Formats: sequence, structure tokens, C-alpha cells
Amino acid sequence: MGNDIWSTKIQGILNLDLSREMRFRDDRKDLFLSLLGLTEEMTILDIGCGPGAITRKLSKWLGEKSKIIGIDRDIEFVKYAREKAIKMNLHNISYFEGDALKLPLEDNSVDACISHTVIEHVPNKEFLLEQKRVCKPKGRVSVIYARPDKYIRTEPDLLPKQSKREQELLDKLFKDNDEIDKEYNVGKYWPDPVGLPRLFEELGFNNIQIDAISIPIAIDDSRNNNDEKMAIIRSEKEQFFESIDMATCLNKNTLLDDELIELKELITERTNQRLGFIKEGKSIWDYTILSLQVVSGMVD
Ligand SMILES: C[S@@+](CC[C@H](N)C(=O)[O-])C[C@H]1O[C@@H](n2cnc3c(N)ncnc32)[C@H](O)[C@@H]1O
Repeated sequence: MGNDIWSTKIQGILNLDLSREMRFRDDRKDLFLSLLGLTEEMTILDIGCGPGAITRKLSKWLGEKSKIIGIDRDIEFVKYAREKAIKMNLHNISYFEGDALKLPLEDNSVDACISHTVIEHVPNKEFLLEQKRVCKPKGRVSVIYARPDKYIRTEPDLLPKQSKREQELLDKLFKDNDEIDKEYNVGKYWPDPVGLPRLFEELGFNNIQIDAISIPIAIDDSRNNNDEKMAIIRSEKEQFFESIDMATCLNKNTLLDDELIELKELITERTNQRLGFIKEGKSIWDYTILSLQVVSGMVD
């Protein structure tokens, strides 16, 4: 039943772990917990938990009295999440392999359901109905999904740009990615901003709420010390390399070995130039702001 499609063909462990670590930073704890209505002593289900970054945050933020359950269809993610929770001594989390549309849980068994960037990939109605089934009366089902149409990225003049050659190699490497996404329904069910709260209504949820969270990632933000600034840049490079390695495994014939080495060298050079600005103490204000929409409803 489980598989490793997501972790091997779509997004790797590093990509999800590092990007979520940045999104769910500890200084956003109160914001996330209040928007999702999560408090200690709750049993919380994170559906499509991936490698588990959010479950670990909730476990730390809410403490031992809470119980956090992560479910994902990808066996590699579940294995990784289990091992990491043990290593971090987080005893209030458990992980199960399972389908979001057929959750391996009893009716009325959790206080809250959350999911982060999962609804985009599964039939929305079935996804919500299954959460309504497992959530206790008065429990809240919260769906967080990305709004790429509201994405902001600055491109200051000083930002080291991708060379033509880098772009050419990337195009060649990733040319089949749309096909892979299509084959595995990635992004097939992106919710309509009006349609989703309507669907909550139609399915009988109460107290429906719309929220949004803006997540800036700004290297030069003065709250980051130099090590943190460099960690953001290095993490972005690691994520990029992981995507390149995954694409290389999937499309064995697209880049020659020499081209792959050349591509990585070009990215490393660009990364080093960006790191150079930090070493010089110079801010260049390249940043992104991601918009997450949250739609939630209460079970009767
Ligand atoms: C974009 S990732 C998000 C992972 C995690 N929520 C996070 O933000 O780090 C989407 C996740 O949904 C999982 N997924 C997709 N369809 C699923 C299904 N039908 N049942 C269970 N998990 C599913 C994938 O395996 C993947 O881990």
C-alpha cells in the first residue's frame, strides 16, 4: 500500500525538512498554534506529514501532554520521521504509513486534524470527509495550502544571477518534470479559494474560518546572525542539489556526467558569491514571501 514515489520522484527528504524548518520557525510558534487552534493535551493528526518537520515542531511546542500522530503514504518519509523523533527524544509522536483518503484511525479519535500542502494533491472532498470522520465532535480540521499566485521574490541587481549555461543545463535536466507531476497528480487538485470554504460548508463543517500566513525568508533580516544567514544560503543549495540528484536518477540520459559536474560547479560558484556578500557584511535584500492560506472548520 505504501510507496516511495514522493520521496524519490517528487520532493526529497532534505527539501521538505529544510524548507519546513524555515517556515515553521520557533518564533512563529504562537501564530501557528493560535491559527490552528492547537493546545496542549490535544491529540493532533498531521496528514501527509512527509518527513515530519511539522510534527516535531508541534511535539516540542505543545509538550509531553499532547499526542501527535503523523500519517503519510510514503514509506521513506515515515521511516525517516520515526527515526528522527527517537533521536530527538520526542516520545509523544507516532507515525503510520497510510492513505489520506482511507486513514488508519477509528472514527472520532483525534481532537484536531491539520495538513500542510497536501490538499493540492488529493481529491478535496474525500480528503475532508475522511478528516471529518476521524475528528471528534468540536474538533477542528485545518487545511494549509500554498498560494503561488501571491508569491513574492525580489531580484536585486547585486544578486548573482543564473548564467545562460546554468539555465540551459537545468532546462535539459528538468524537461520531463511536468510529465512526472502529471503522472502522480502533483498539484492536480489545487483548491479554489472560494470553492474550498464552500466545500467545508457543503460537508457540514461549522465555524468555518479563513486565515493566511505570510512567510518571509530574508537572508539579510537583522534577526539572523551571520551563521544563520549562511545556513539559509547553504540550505537552499542543498535542496537544489537534492532536486538535481533526484532528476538525474529519474532521467538517466538527460545530462552527461561532465554536464552534471559543470552544473553543480556553476551553482556552487553562484552560492559562494552570495556567501561572499555576507562575509563582507553587505546586505543585498534578496528575499521571498510565501503566502499560505488556511481554511478550517469545526466538526459537529
Ligand atoms: C508537499 S508534501 C508535504 C509534506 C508535509 N506536509 C510538509 O509540509 O513537509 C505532500 C505530502 O503528501 C503526501 N501524500 C500525497 N498524497 C497522499 C495520500 N493520498 N495519502 C497520504 N499521503 C499523501 C506525500 O507523500 C507528501 O509527503
